Amino acid sequence: MESLIDKYQHIENLNHYLKKKKRIRHCVSVAEHMQACALYFGVNQAKAYLVGMYHDIAKELNSEQLIEYSQKYLERKIEPIQNFPFKKYNTNLLHGPAGAEIIAQDFKIVDPDILIAIAHHTTGGLRLSNLAKLAFIMDFCEPLRKHTTSEEIYHVLINNKNLPLAYYLTYYYTLLDVIKRKKLICPESILGYNEALDSIQ
Ligand SMILES: [Fe+2]
Ligand SMILES: [Fe+2]
Repeated sequence: MESLIDKYQHIENLNHYLKKKKRIRHCVSVAEHMQACALYFGVNQAKAYLVGMYHDIAKELNSEQLIEYSQKYLERKIEPIQNFPFKKYNTNLLHGPAGAEIIAQDFKIVDPDILIAIAHHTTGGLRLSNLAKLAFIMDFCEPLRKHTTSEEIYHVLINNKNLPLAYYLTYYYTLLDVIKRKKLICPESILGYNEALDSIQ
């Protein structure tokens, strides 16, 4: 388990990139909730904690920075960035891969499991590890979110311990919201949605 000293060091690291205190509280909440349920889903607790803590570290970068960091992440050849041209037009989607690059560069966290989980927390994707799925879900449903839909997913994950259903519901509500706002849907998320639906039928 992470010590309190480690926790404050992580928060100090986040402070270099994030101005919004609410966002930092969200990161800590995702980290602690991911760590708390990691073992149950066969996920390494230390990795879960780091993924949660740093998943949004790139959230306040501008579009040029997001593209630049994502390009560098790509050059590490850990994985391709799916639909990269689409994401360049919707640069908020790049705060995943850009965040992975920041922690690799600045904090020398280069574990591929951690980087891939952070890179995919915005869109989801195909054949993700349980670590990456947990990040995608917990980002949406950690208790500070306080939406009815978040509460439902939190209940399915924590009380019912049903990761496949919580994973599917996260896509479902995320995509519904994107549709309601008349925004384009990233094709990677559609593939993830289909795979998640298939897994619960
Ligand atoms: Fe995010
Ligand atoms: Fe987040």
